[in-house]
Amino acid sequence: MPIRPATAEAIREAAGALRSGRLVAFPTETVYGLGADATNGRAVAGIYAAKGRPQFNPLIVHVADAGEAARLASLSPLALKLADAFWPGALTMVLAKRADCPVADLATAGLDTIAIRVPSHPIARALIAAAVVPIAAPSANRSGHVSPTTAAHVDADLGDQVAIILDDGPSPVGVESTVVDLSGAQPKLLRAGGVPTEAIETVLGAPLARATDMAGERPASPGQLASHYAPRAAVRLDAAAARPGEALLAFGPTVPSHGGPTINLSPTGDLNEAAANLFAALRSLDATGVETIAIMPIPSSGLGEAINDRLRRAAAAR
Ligand code: TXA
Ligand code: MG
Repeated sequence: MPIRPATAEAIREAAGALRSGRLVAFPTETVYGLGADATNGRAVAGIYAAKGRPQFNPLIVHVADAGEAARLASLSPLALKLADAFWPGALTMVLAKRADCPVADLATAGLDTIAIRVPSHPIARALIAAAVVPIAAPSANRSGHVSPTTAAHVDADLGDQVAIILDDGPSPVGVESTVVDLSGAQPKLLRAGGVPTEAIETVLGAPLARATDMAGERPASPGQLASHYAPRAAVRLDAAAARPGEALLAFGPTVPSHGGPTINLSPTGDLNEAAANLFAALRSLDATGVETIAIMPIPSSGLGEAINDRLRRAAAAR
């Protein structure tokens, strides 16, 4: 069993495993990550192999601060402004890769841009500091599965693929980072996530451009694949009530009565609490063996945008 409480000793061991080219799962404020030394192409290849992930999907590289980010990519004045406002935290920026960037081409899928994040989670930060190398880390789930927000979720998907899973309890934000592309003329939202889009637009003083969405087109951000974050069960959105045989994913104080499995993401209607509970709730309802999970409507403000984005993908035909 690779799960270990995230003590100083376990973090040291995990850093050593990373430096020797092995995979380590670790908590971040958004979701648990599957980390490899980003400068080691073979180690990065291990991530794709473990996840069963399509090779064209570039990874997020995690570093300690904006200074470290500047060794990998050029930070425009707008990028520096967003770094100031949201790092450390749940914002990923896609930036022009520096010519001398030491990150393996495989981690950026051969693109001339690189996605960088400075996490705020103390264990993630301690691991980055101890490893001394940038850490490439997608969410620590098998490709297409729901993202993990606990060490047990990681163990269920990838337990036999990692040297160690650092356990520090549930991820507090619960949805992945917001991804903004700053490599072009205009900042563009590639993925709604843990930092509300409105908060970013407030700092920028202008609305973000949106990536043209999914169907038929080559996704601007491959995490935008239509069917993603999928539980095994079918998903029915905007359900006013659950039908017999379904599970109910509820939200808010007014829940229709239902005899089957029910989880309320937030009885008080708090979207931050709902985001933190989202992936664990989908996994639990899925594990009851129902054929369909009915999901009550969830407002789209704040983290509701990221929640609804993940739910639409969970509901998409596969
Ligand atoms: O919260 C998170 O972001 C978590 C934790 C572990 O940090 N990581 C995560 O990584 O969600 P992943 O690999 O599951 O999602 C990375 C997203 C994908 O949508 C990917 O397509 C996009 O970032 N991305 C990465 N590099 C990119 C690039 N150069 N250009 C455009 N999109 C990129
Ligand atoms: Mg993912």
